[in-house]
Amino acid sequence: MSNKNVSHTKWMKRAILLASLGKNTSSPNPRVGAVILDKNGNLISEGFHYKAGMPHAEAMAFSNLKKDAKGGSMYVNLEPCCHQGKTPPCVDKVISSGIRKIYISIEDPDMRVSGKGIKLLKKAGIQVHLGLCKHESLELNKAFIHRNITKKAFGVLKWAMSIDGRVSLKNGKSKWITNKKSRSLVHSLRTEFDAIIIGGNTLRKDNPLLTTRGKKNPEPLRVIFTKSLDLPEKSNLWDCSNAKTIVIYDSSTANESNLTKIPKCVEIVKVSSDNPELISTILAKRGCNKVLWECGPRLATAAVKSNCIQEIITFIAPKILGGENSMNPFDDFDFEEMHETINLSQTNFSFVGNDICFESSIKN
Ligand SMILES: NC(=O)c1ccc[n+]([C@@H]2O[C@H](COP(=O)([O-])OP(=O)(O)OC[C@H]3O[C@@H](n4cnc5c(N)ncnc54)[C@H](OP(=O)(O)O)[C@@H]3O)[C@@H](O)[C@H]2O)c1
Repeated sequence: MSNKNVSHTKWMKRAILLASLGKNTSSPNPRVGAVILDKNGNLISEGFHYKAGMPHAEAMAFSNLKKDAKGGSMYVNLEPCCHQGKTPPCVDKVISSGIRKIYISIEDPDMRVSGKGIKLLKKAGIQVHLGLCKHESLELNKAFIHRNITKKAFGVLKWAMSIDGRVSLKNGKSKWITNKKSRSLVHSLRTEFDAIIIGGNTLRKDNPLLTTRGKKNPEPLRVIFTKSLDLPEKSNLWDCSNAKTIVIYDSSTANESNLTKIPKCVEIVKVSSDNPELISTILAKRGCNKVLWECGPRLATAAVKSNCIQEIITFIAPKILGGENSMNPFDDFDFEEMHETINLSQTNFSFVGNDICFESSIKN
């Protein structure tokens, strides 16, 4: 790689690093960072997108300018927008700044932009270079891209299990399989998500809190998917003072007279079947880019079968639960041949005290 290319890569990596500062806050918007150099290649400004309704990365960089940007260049990890949203279009700002070159890592998958921003920049005589650090940018915004393309939320399934692959005892007790450090890591991990999903049985058995313990404000949305509406009258999830809760129920099977038992602060959404895809679509429509499925084996299996899961995170504890009737992480997928089984890729593992955290992607 020539010195020139090394320095272009360096500035794009800087833009990506800035973008990652909005990792837990930018949703439903993408994670974007921007760097501006003057005509001599000196850094004169930078910015990132923090939150919807707040300035986009490019706008923030322009408002932080230390010097005139005329004849300079910009590095941005996502195509600048060309539509009026909560804030004005960024291409107009780039064009009026007099910038001569722009390095864009990837196109914006949002149909309102999707190549149109680049066309306008080119039409205005700006040199556009597309594709620098493409792999890193796709990775950083994979959930935003997935939601825009599929109209479903990017799903991560998380479970904790013993070394013999059990997620609970046969009586349903599962507190606690993993160590304190792993559980605290899960609280931090939840900050990356817009919503956390469980099924009605996990609510009944575990009465979880499903919060970040104050590490994110607002807390992720807590979602309960139920076919029966047979939910407990007392539950930690009925306290909406720190986090919102939604109950999504299948009206084809649920006993709707149970709705009166759910407190008014909880939002109720009715769907027509028990297909987990419906949850993924509803949450995507509400702007959730990335959702965490913390359900037990039955809902987990249905979610995997309906392509709601793109990645998995497994905590494995050095414990043996044993028992033919203790729960496995999944129900039967009815596979008959080894080639039908689910393949995982990009596997990664780390130690959390004595536990192992295993992360992987599902090849859909
Ligand atoms: N170790 C771990 O990481 C972990 C994590 C979560 C849970 N668990 C354990 O897992 C057990 C619960 O397992 P579970 O599989 O019953 O979990 P679940 O998370 O409650 O999922 C099953 C429930 O989801 C609802 N549901 C809605 N649509 C569904 C569909 N298409 N397919 C299946 N269920 C659907 C039903 O609720 P309704 O019955 O209300 O209709 C069903 O009973 C508990 O003992 C809990 O402690 C362990």
